[in-house]
Amino acid sequence: SPVGPTAAAVMEPVRAACLAEYEALATGVLSGAVSDFISGGSGAELTLRANRSALDRVRITPRVMAGAERADPASRLVGTAAAMPVAVAPMAYQRLVHPEGELELARAAAAAGVPYVVSTLSSYPLEKIPGECWFQLYWLRDRRQVEALVDRAAGCSALVVTVDVPVMGRRLRDVRNGFALPDDVVAANLETTREAHAAVPGLSAVAAHTASAFSPTVSWEDLEWLKNRTEFPLVVKGILDPRDAKRAVDVGASAVVVSNHGGRQLDGAIASIDALPGVVDAVGNEIDVLMDSGIRSGTDVLKALAVGASGVLVGRPLLWALAVDACDEALGLLRTELTDAMLLAGCADLAAVKELSWRNDG
Ligand code: FNR
Repeated sequence: SPVGPTAAAVMEPVRAACLAEYEALATGVLSGAVSDFISGGSGAELTLRANRSALDRVRITPRVMAGAERADPASRLVGTAAAMPVAVAPMAYQRLVHPEGELELARAAAAAGVPYVVSTLSSYPLEKIPGECWFQLYWLRDRRQVEALVDRAAGCSALVVTVDVPVMGRRLRDVRNGFALPDDVVAANLETTREAHAAVPGLSAVAAHTASAFSPTVSWEDLEWLKNRTEFPLVVKGILDPRDAKRAVDVGASAVVVSNHGGRQLDGAIASIDALPGVVDAVGNEIDVLMDSGIRSGTDVLKALAVGASGVLVGRPLLWALAVDACDEALGLLRTELTDAMLLAGCADLAAVKELSWRNDG
């Protein structure tokens, strides 16, 4: 019989072969302004890009023959049992990308066994959000509103105070687009009016709202006051300098998140993965050190853990997946990427990952 090329057997095509591919899929369905709001960073986006290039420069020395058929990524994050060392980063206004917004991403997080961090600026009220949640607090100018929010978060299992937004970073894509929220998307936890969400010249509507509602003077004393007022484990998000990490320990925090807010705040800030070793050296024996900004794959999670993080937060990739109704798929893919990376690095569990050697190939 003639010898010739045979057609490859074709299976049901996958939408995304890896977590990072949800960005292109989401861009295909979202408006340009919403895509820019999510994907963009501040200023010239130097820090946005540095988060990626710095993670790409981390090189792992794999071990071999872990002797296990499967890798087990089970973890504890700030006292919460997690199926893998990943939490969903707090992200505002998820109804921008999906009618069920926070409800859908939180449901998928619960199904995947990972904590979901509810933003102060969620577009559904925090009480409605299902599953194991942590609450992210932006310090409001009105202390009574801070107290009211913290009381409402009583069902959550940790309180994450974000401290890197004294003002919103200048996100030039949003400024150029005159970005404002559509009428059906509101800050459901806050008592605000539609007028508070109007753009003012030179500021996006989200930046203008931040300037009017959030306190730029939140202090370590405020965090101490909060710590003494609640039973929650306190997580301080947005730490890059080891001296600040030590102060977080001093006020009784259970964890810090080494983060530059995904490159959305100070443009020119150090990449999170580059700031991580210093913070781990300073406080890693005392409290959990989480990390975010730029995590796009299971190998990135492996790298962050090898460098010393106890876990990571993942932001944009899960919002992109939400936009194409693929939250379960994306979290499943991330888990597969992580367990494959663990096996390829010769690690049956996370204790072995912590012992991996790494270098910065810069
Ligand atoms: C955020 N981030 C954020 N952080 C926070 O503490 N409260 C918030 O409401 C928001 N909102 C928000 C909206 C959007 C659209 C994005 C992309 C990010 C920052 C977020 O928690 C996290 O620090 C970064 O997104 C992590 O970087 P990657 O994973 O997106 O690269």
